[in-house]
Amino acid sequence: MSNLVILGAQWGDEGKGKITDFLAKKADYVVRYQGGDNAGHTVELGEQQYKLHLVPSGILNPGKPCVIGNGVVVNPASLVREIKYLNDLGVSTDSLIISDRAHIIFPYHIEIDRLEEEDRGDLKIGTTIKGIGPCYRDKIERSGIRMCDFENRSSFEKTLRHNIRKKNDLIVKYYGCDPLDEDSMVKEYMSHMESVYRYVTDTNVVMRDALKKEAKILFEGAQGTLLDIDYGTYPFVTSSHPTTCGISAGAGVNPYRLEKALGVVKAYTTRVGKGPFVTELDNEIGDWIRERGHEYGTTTGRARRCGWLDMVMLNYSAEINGFSSIALTKLDTLSDLEILKICVAYKLDGEIINYFPASLETLSRCEPIYIELDGWKLDDVVKAKTYNQLPKNARLYVEKIEELLGLPADIVSVGPKRGETFTRKELF
Ligand code: IMP
Repeated sequence: MSNLVILGAQWGDEGKGKITDFLAKKADYVVRYQGGDNAGHTVELGEQQYKLHLVPSGILNPGKPCVIGNGVVVNPASLVREIKYLNDLGVSTDSLIISDRAHIIFPYHIEIDRLEEEDRGDLKIGTTIKGIGPCYRDKIERSGIRMCDFENRSSFEKTLRHNIRKKNDLIVKYYGCDPLDEDSMVKEYMSHMESVYRYVTDTNVVMRDALKKEAKILFEGAQGTLLDIDYGTYPFVTSSHPTTCGISAGAGVNPYRLEKALGVVKAYTTRVGKGPFVTELDNEIGDWIRERGHEYGTTTGRARRCGWLDMVMLNYSAEINGFSSIALTKLDTLSDLEILKICVAYKLDGEIINYFPASLETLSRCEPIYIELDGWKLDDVVKAKTYNQLPKNARLYVEKIEELLGLPADIVSVGPKRGETFTRKELF
């Protein structure tokens, strides 16, 4: 048996899609366990670029069973769109499996997400406005609608109508906006559900059977550790657990069956949305990294904030997730900078600290303490066909991170294509 967890070590957008796609060919199953279509994974195969939101990146490997676990929140309208997008590009989605316990996102979740963001004013979270938080809230307060509820069409419709009326009350009375149209929403969503219901099954049984036959399972995290509802920079977080702790709750696999966790680490730091960011480069170097690294959101198109690598944050992330190694991505983006910086500790009120504070007020007072390393040239990175052929300073950068984290970088990625990935140790 061999199970591998792939998850984001920072604020998401670390390049998990590419790493998952790369490793998926060796896996028997690829499983998503949290989040929804707020995720954006870009994978390039040959000349074709694929943008995925909800469907696991493993789908680009024909015939690979790809599971959307119970911890994922599914918008049937965007799933229908994504399936069509993939099919139009010649990618089969026949191997997609959706948990009957997964909760459903409806337009009222999206509308409330939007209205709440407006209402927050300066305290805006910067959500993707995909209805993620409001859907998880309904799940926790036990008023959500699950995939399995569609088995009984009439009671599904009845609950949906009841929920629409309740949400319209809030939309009209609290926010003073027009109500959503009940009949057209019911009609549209009953039709979307008919389209996606053929993929729905009890994925706990699928996982149990996979474990029994010692299949290789790849768990694909969305977002990143610092967006975790408990461990992230609350309240500027998503509403699920993009950490290893989310897997047993969101995929139906008990924690004792998880073996290795690969933390995907971008060679620098980015974040979308609001909240303190200790190593942020709000200057021309940050702008330069954004352009070089195409740091614009796959889901929202928003410009990502960019900064140097932060080892205080990464060590925190490694501890929470129990990383066994890391995949370092986008090393090529840093090429041509003369000097690179890595944050190794924070200075807080004159004292040096090496823990990640819970309070955002405290975090915003932390100043980065940097070490400096010499840069390398992109031309030399492009020529490299193996890790050892990378320019010496690029390798020194990787090895410094390994030393500061106490973990090996088993995979180093220097471009978006499958071929631009150096495996230093086989993971499966
Ligand atoms: P939500 O998940 O749409 O509720 O957004 C909550 C926070 O998570 C916001 O700061 C979003 O920008 C961020 N977020 C959600 N999904 C992603 C992602 O896939 N990559 C990076 N940030 C994300």
